[in-house]
Amino acid sequence: MLISSTTDFREAARRRLPPFLFHYADGGAYAEQTLRRNVSDLADLALRQRVLKNVAECDLSTTLFGQEMAMPVAIAPVGLAGMYARRGEVQAARAAEAAGIPFTLSTVSVCSIEEVQNAVKKPIWFQLYVLKDRGFMRNALERAWAAGITTLVFTVDMPVPGARYRDLHSGMSGPAGPARRILQAITHPRWAFDVGLMGRPHDLGNVSAYLGKPTKLEDYIAWLGENFDPAIAWADLHWLRDFWKGKIIIKGILDPEDAREAVAFGADGIVVSNHGGRQLDGVRSTARALPRIVEAVGGELKIFADGGVRSGLDVVRMLALGADAVLLGRAYIYAMAYGGEAGVAKLLEIIAKEMRVAMALTGVTKISDISGGILERR
Ligand code: GLV
Repeated sequence: MLISSTTDFREAARRRLPPFLFHYADGGAYAEQTLRRNVSDLADLALRQRVLKNVAECDLSTTLFGQEMAMPVAIAPVGLAGMYARRGEVQAARAAEAAGIPFTLSTVSVCSIEEVQNAVKKPIWFQLYVLKDRGFMRNALERAWAAGITTLVFTVDMPVPGARYRDLHSGMSGPAGPARRILQAITHPRWAFDVGLMGRPHDLGNVSAYLGKPTKLEDYIAWLGENFDPAIAWADLHWLRDFWKGKIIIKGILDPEDAREAVAFGADGIVVSNHGGRQLDGVRSTARALPRIVEAVGGELKIFADGGVRSGLDVVRMLALGADAVLLGRAYIYAMAYGGEAGVAKLLEIIAKEMRVAMALTGVTKISDISGGILERR
């Protein structure tokens, strides 16, 4: 299949994957309005075409927390990424490292912290949820630190899991889920061989390591449902600031007041995010939420954004709205499902190329020159 964009990767992933996995990654909450608006509100941002600006030398590099990044893009944490390609988190981490950008490992990854970190040279980033089992949280943080990880992405927008209706229909959850998943695997033989058979074990590597027994995919939804802590509040997080000596990025901020709380908490960064439209359908798209948050806390911490980013053009749009860097979630999952490490490498090349074109035709050549000035004011 000829691949030239994320749209092509998505279509390729749709064909390759058992539907329960495709829809788990592709879907959102309720009627998926926020999911769609994440994409369409970004696409609606018109760029100012500029000419004769000498755009011969274009530099995508940036520094964040003292680290050089080849472009202001990082791989977002995605649960179960290791089900989308054989030992998927390892493959994606390698591709990210080769491309000079950070990879973020989800708490609920297939591969454990150690398996992924041992496969690359530079420290990966690690994502953690607020969980009822504080013993697990402490254990995960200790293991991450021991592995050399210094950047923690702390997800706070999941005190309860969102209602994902696609998962019920696809067999990811719901009645007869296990039988339907087996049937889907059999009818997708390339995935069944490459991941289903050769990609074992299929457990939640970090949870199994803590519990001392395998945590199977069947247990995943149940474990998530039982372990999110709806009682958590900012005051409960202070132990985290004391316990974790590295950087803390709070993920899941959509409101300026919460962004101010994150500053007061002492966060090093926030991710402006509605969890890819997977939590509360009907909340603002990231593109709409971001400018007010930048106005409220810009300059006080680093601002990341995710949601709806499917191209380098979208990365540039997010930067123009004031983000310091962008996280890629679904886009990398589609690419990895199709092509593993090489797929993610190709996606990152495409993103970089698209960023260069967008910058050249809006008349900027450095990341620090990207501002609201490259957008049309309507
Ligand atoms: C987990 O964070 C999910 O969005 O499924």
